[in-house]
Amino acid sequence: MSDGYTNNLCSAYHSKCGDRKAPNKRSKALLKPDNLLVPPHEMSRIGKVIGILSGKGGVGKSLVTALLAVTERRRGVSVGIMDADITGPSIPRFFGRSQRVKMDEFGLYPVETVTGISVVSLNLMIDHETDPVILRGLIISGLVKQFWTEVIWKDIDYLFIDMPPGSGDVPLTVF
Ligand SMILES: Nc1ncnc2c1ncn2[C@@H]1O[C@H](COP(=O)(O)OP(=O)(O)OP(=O)(O)O)[C@@H](O)[C@H]1O
Ligand SMILES: [Mg+2]
Repeated sequence: MSDGYTNNLCSAYHSKCGDRKAPNKRSKALLKPDNLLVPPHEMSRIGKVIGILSGKGGVGKSLVTALLAVTERRRGVSVGIMDADITGPSIPRFFGRSQRVKMDEFGLYPVETVTGISVVSLNLMIDHETDPVILRGLIISGLVKQFWTEVIWKDIDYLFIDMPPGSGDVPLTVF
């Protein structure tokens, strides 16, 4: 186009229309939502991921997460629970677990419940579950990401994710 209006617009931005280039493949690729997907640990094979969330707190998310996991485990499938409620973890207590998550050079290993459900929670990474922990936004979503990329979930059919209330950083990171 070379009408007066477009020419004025181009000169206002100190460039000519003919000089403008289409974005290269890489910058286009950066805009693709698929790129927000992060692969899990290479030693994990995770079947289905099921997030349990609600906008409101105290409505039974953690209880539903635990009951779903127990129900599926009773059906004989292998199950994991990621306690993504970093600032209010409650899953270990449901299962009476307090030992710490083990780690080696390959990654972190979930704690197993009596019936063999694999659990990862911040409460299983600190010395005492009542210890105060101060965490700000980015660290919280970073931890959730680590629960996915650095935990060796091995071979599980269902990974249930207990979320904190609301639609903030953690649910967005999980999605
Ligand atoms: N269906 C239910 N009937 C009666 N009590 C329930 C039910 N579901 C959960 N509770 C009780 O309500 C309380 C809150 O449940 P829970 O911790 O599962 O909620 P939550 O949504 O995970 O809370 P938060 O948002 O703080 O993580 C607990 O004491 C739990 O035992
Ligand atoms: Mg909860």
